[in-house]
Amino acid sequence: MKMAKERRVLIAASILSADFSRLGEEVKQVLEEGIRWIHVDVMDGHFVPNLSMGPQVVRSLRPMADQFSARLHVHLMITEPDRYLSDFVRAGANSVSVHVETCPHLHRTLQEIRALGARSGVAVNPATLLVTLEEVVSELDFVLIMTVEPGFGGQEFIPSSLDKIRRLRRMLNERGLEQVLIAVDGGMSRHTAGDAVRAGATVLVAGSAIFNGPASIPQNLQELRAAIEASQQEVVSQRPILSGTR
Ligand code: DX5
Ligand code: ZN
Repeated sequence: MKMAKERRVLIAASILSADFSRLGEEVKQVLEEGIRWIHVDVMDGHFVPNLSMGPQVVRSLRPMADQFSARLHVHLMITEPDRYLSDFVRAGANSVSVHVETCPHLHRTLQEIRALGARSGVAVNPATLLVTLEEVVSELDFVLIMTVEPGFGGQEFIPSSLDKIRRLRRMLNERGLEQVLIAVDGGMSRHTAGDAVRAGATVLVAGSAIFNGPASIPQNLQELRAAIEASQQEVVSQRPILSGTR
């Protein structure tokens, strides 16, 4: 029997690494494998040195996501995100995260996301201090900890992020905000997923490990899930065994 404190960990598939000529097919494949979060990376060539996709992609994926009761999560790596919030939510985004580095009026931006009917998240770059979130934490449904510099898929996980995830987990627990999800984004693979889960992550965003991994999409996902499960077993077995809970 699992201990009550064990957290459910979700995998979000980042379509940035998908084959865009077969986007629908590849998204369908991950949905058929049980993925229920599709992560859509939006880049503007200003905040990050790359360009990617816009609301049209969200709109196109919405019917398929609905068939599987899946969520579309939009990660806005753009300056002035306020200008585009309603476009993305109207296109079908269930949740939207903005970068703290791009939002001078972060409280208002988060309220706006919720008012539009989506869940609100804040993304923080590797060099950004967590303290910037303290004043808005009650407006948040999730935090997206960037574990690479945003802009490109296929980069290496930055190891110092683990301590940041632990500190965020502590900050949320101390405030009684355990329900706020901690998503980690960048460099997630079967080699790094376990560490992120042990540190306190509840959503792992993975792109290249799923779509460009060593094997097929179902096998890549299976590897990732096995790594997550193994780390959860370790966490459980390290806890003292309490009156018949396990
Ligand atoms: C990076 C994006 C990530 C990216 C992750 O700017 O925000 O979502 O797609 O890709 P991998 O999993 O390849 O690091
Ligand atoms: Zn992302």
